[in-house]
Amino acid sequence: MPGRQEAVALLEEWVENEGLRKHMYAVEAAVRHYARLRGGDEDRWGLAGLLHDLDWEKYPEEHPLKAVAHLREEGYPEEVLHAILAHRSDFTGIEPESELDKVLIGCDELSGLVYATCLVRPNGIDDIKPKSVTKKIKDKTFAAGVSRDAVQKGVELIGLERVEHIQNIIDALRTVAVRLQIRGEDLRS
Ligand SMILES: [Fe+2]
Repeated sequence: MPGRQEAVALLEEWVENEGLRKHMYAVEAAVRHYARLRGGDEDRWGLAGLLHDLDWEKYPEEHPLKAVAHLREEGYPEEVLHAILAHRSDFTGIEPESELDKVLIGCDELSGLVYATCLVRPNGIDDIKPKSVTKKIKDKTFAAGVSRDAVQKGVELIGLERVEHIQNIIDALRTVAVRLQIRGEDLRS
């Protein structure tokens, strides 16, 4: 199985947009966090989070089929590929089945909302509470590109109360706050 270093190199080769890169690192952190909570293989699950949007910038029409074809050639595990396919089940027809499939979907949209919420707070992630994120979920004009239906579907797949899931995502994003530049000191500078 290719390691994280190779996966990061691939990400940086395929994805130029810094916002998309941050999103992929954020989802990686969230999925890894759930691997720890749920006894998943953290390195393996992490690859699914890190690479799930690999072809989004280069091949938006075919996302995620191009990425999966390439990753398969490179020897990435089928479990990882299945999760990447299932995170866009409306397009691929591959439904989420495994715990990893469900966790990836659950972390994808919601980590985007937590990230966006951090950006509009003076102290960023430093003192954020689930309630701050919940308010933004209810405000449909905020980060309007993030589908609330998808967030809801993700919460259901995770199988926790929404507030608990949000807290988990916050905890996870704290581990990569420097890379995401979402600490108060990053936002104030
Ligand atoms: Fe994503």
